Amino acid sequence: MKIAVIGTGYVGLVTGTCLAETGNDVICVDINEAKVKKMQDGQVPIYEPGLDLLFHRNIAQDRLKFTTDLAMAIKDAQIIFMALPTPPGGDGAADLSYILGAAKDISKLITDYKVIVNKSTVPVGTADKVRAVFSENTDVEVDVVSNPEFLREGVAVEDFMKPDRVVVGTTSERAKKLMAELYGPYVRQGNPILFMDERSSELTKYAANSFLATKITFMNEIANLCELVGADVDAVRKGIGSDSRIGKRFLFPGVGYGGSCFPKDVQALVKSADENDYHFAILKSVMDVNEKQKTILVEKVLKYYANNVQGKHFALWGLAFKPETDDIREAPALYIIDALIKHGATLTVFDPEAMANVKALIGDKVNYAENAYDALENADALLIVTEWSVFRNPDFERLESTLKNKVIFDGRNLYDLEKMIDLGYYYNSIGRKQIN
Ligand code: UDX
Repeated sequence: MKIAVIGTGYVGLVTGTCLAETGNDVICVDINEAKVKKMQDGQVPIYEPGLDLLFHRNIAQDRLKFTTDLAMAIKDAQIIFMALPTPPGGDGAADLSYILGAAKDISKLITDYKVIVNKSTVPVGTADKVRAVFSENTDVEVDVVSNPEFLREGVAVEDFMKPDRVVVGTTSERAKKLMAELYGPYVRQGNPILFMDERSSELTKYAANSFLATKITFMNEIANLCELVGADVDAVRKGIGSDSRIGKRFLFPGVGYGGSCFPKDVQALVKSADENDYHFAILKSVMDVNEKQKTILVEKVLKYYANNVQGKHFALWGLAFKPETDDIREAPALYIIDALIKHGATLTVFDPEAMANVKALIGDKVNYAENAYDALENADALLIVTEWSVFRNPDFERLESTLKNKVIFDGRNLYDLEKMIDLGYYYNSIGRKQIN
């Protein structure tokens, strides 16, 4: 099939590349000329495992192209995906100006039937708004479809190629047929394509992300309670996760959820509920609890140093909001760095992929280490914020000889408590016994 993808951000680029992989002809459009030029020259603009291979393979096969020319890109396309940003506006509601602007541009260019697919995360009712833009500007028939993405950064290619489910919101039989054909190769294993109305599809995305954010936040609160009552969150996690109604995944306590989706989507759903005079009490609490959880490690550090970290120097491992990405949007590490600096401490940080992004954002507020061990030089303690694999099994001898003191604050529960007792560390993690 012939596909156009508008917007080559994270979602658009993964979507376009993965759609080309099953033999479709895909043209990706972006207004950013420098970025398009880069991609035309064969450079993948983001770090995402597995994307490189598919990107180059499909460009080589002439199935994946990049342009700034919207008219050219959509001319022959049967399906036009919109993968545009929906940042929170000043009032917390998603800002739809990119989506509606693109819809207007497209509506003025098309001359034959198109399926317009919205991949961005948008409030309920957006498909109707997009449809209205088309009716105002053209007589050409279009179907506006909601098709939210459920891609996790770091495993986005796998998530796209083998989705748990594909959600398609449309009541048009014509659009349904085309979407079923397009997604057929991705659901061979029997996972469903769930057809529903547009509004339900739009809400599904917010509900999924908000539910997962709630699940994590619930575990973070259980972890905080574990510390107070002398229970072990790892045991409790396994104890409840083995119940198939609860499930093992997404029960890991930590330093709060971050990233480009959960914080934004929870906030937008609360806002959307407010607009409909519904007080979404659970989600409001989730937001409050997560805000606090992002600096839980700082509280632990302050407690250890009797509220005085003036002149202390810390090593911090992990800046990205989660492993296998260079994304630092809403990353807990940024909040931790900020709070510790405000308290008079200095930091040397290390992350396998996200250093350049942090440098661009906060410059020389912190020192940047060449590798994980260099970060430990002269450090009074080590803080672990992101669970990159490289931090899971460090050379503890090297750690001991480089760190000034054997003190670790672990926001991701990477190490075995018994081991830390044996090694003689002060070890403070989340929801587990404090070792010293
Ligand atoms: C999420 C959704 O999973 C995806 O379906 C959606 O389309 C986009 O948002 P992503 O933001 O890439 O994906 O990351 P995810 O792996 O879901 O993690 C989100 C946050 O939750 C991270 O900050 C992570 O550290 C945190 N998390 C996750 C936990 O603290 N504990 C867990 O058990 C799982």
